[in-house]
Amino acid sequence: MIQETREQFIHLFEKEPLMVVSPGRINLIGEHTDYNDGFVLPAAIDKKIVYAIALNNTRQCNVHAVFINETVSFQLEDVKPTPGWINYLMGIVYQLQERGLEVQGFDCVLAGDIPVGAGMSSSAAVEGGLVAALDHIFKYGLDRMQMALIGQKAEHTFPGVKCGIMDQFANLHGKKDQVMCLDCRSLEFEYFPFNFPDYKIVLCNSMVHHSLASSEYNVRRLQCEEGVKAIQVNHPAVKSLRDANMDMLNEVRAELSDKVYDRCNYVIAEIQRVQDATALLKKGDLQQFGELMYATHEGLSKLYEVSCPELDFLVSLAKERKEVAGARVMGGGFGGCTINLVKADKVDEYVSFIKSRYQDRYGKEPEVYVTVIEEGVSIID
Ligand code: GLA
Repeated sequence: MIQETREQFIHLFEKEPLMVVSPGRINLIGEHTDYNDGFVLPAAIDKKIVYAIALNNTRQCNVHAVFINETVSFQLEDVKPTPGWINYLMGIVYQLQERGLEVQGFDCVLAGDIPVGAGMSSSAAVEGGLVAALDHIFKYGLDRMQMALIGQKAEHTFPGVKCGIMDQFANLHGKKDQVMCLDCRSLEFEYFPFNFPDYKIVLCNSMVHHSLASSEYNVRRLQCEEGVKAIQVNHPAVKSLRDANMDMLNEVRAELSDKVYDRCNYVIAEIQRVQDATALLKKGDLQQFGELMYATHEGLSKLYEVSCPELDFLVSLAKERKEVAGARVMGGGFGGCTINLVKADKVDEYVSFIKSRYQDRYGKEPEVYVTVIEEGVSIID
């Protein structure tokens, strides 16, 4: 794909581009914890966005998106929220300009194989790839965390999703065969190997497009903040759900709506679960780790209400199978993928089982991706 994208660029713009590979991500556990100052356990994967990009000595940016065969242009003096996929790129350009970092006109071809709306962070990959490309070209000297924060701000201000830092972080910090445990408050993180040669990471795409994701996502965030405000009355030191525990939450139960109570209940449990899960993973106990994934799914489905019948069905299928250590909905939710840890020698069997049962139930075939953990954003010389 890298070579093809380069050739397409040369064909369209008649010069040699810089190539940038920008991956999607998985998250093993820790969902909706990032914007609550909790922990996450993501990794970059082999599904990716590819950029071919070069300056054009004008004040105009021309971007050709291969996946819909469309070229969109914008002026550097007129960068504002704009409908469509170009919004993600304009958001980055805007945030760079906001920081006084100079951007000049560029030509660019954008290709990729990250399914959109599947919970694999195609948008963070578009953002992270562009910020890294422009940093390389203009020598801003940004570090990877600064780039991730720029991507997150772009997402807040242009598409308007008040996301946490996980996706942009994972996209820019990924390392081959390593998962990352990120403390979303301090932004400290550690790598450790995902060393389970007997298992594969299998993503099952429900093919339900998560259209509710942005609006409902922001609602979840507000509900968490509402819970924090109530807890703060008795416990002023609590700055986010990271600092809260179930006793604190129960003290204010009567003041909270059932929904807000359930949301906070899920998050408090999940932040603890990530820490327990990380310890299990380091010990090599994938079976117990998988049990925690199922517990996360239960919470996301019943308390946080970001699942849907199709995703619940996919997880219930996983539970029937001995070759699966654990499964759950991954990412923001409302559609997209489940992540499944599956015995390597049983993957084919499992995939045909999932496909046929899902087809019987919903009349459509889920796409299944057997992924591997890869490097984060890479500049290819
Ligand atoms: C989306 C957001 C992330 C994170 C997840 C849920 O992917 O972009 O910041 O909140 O949802 O864990």
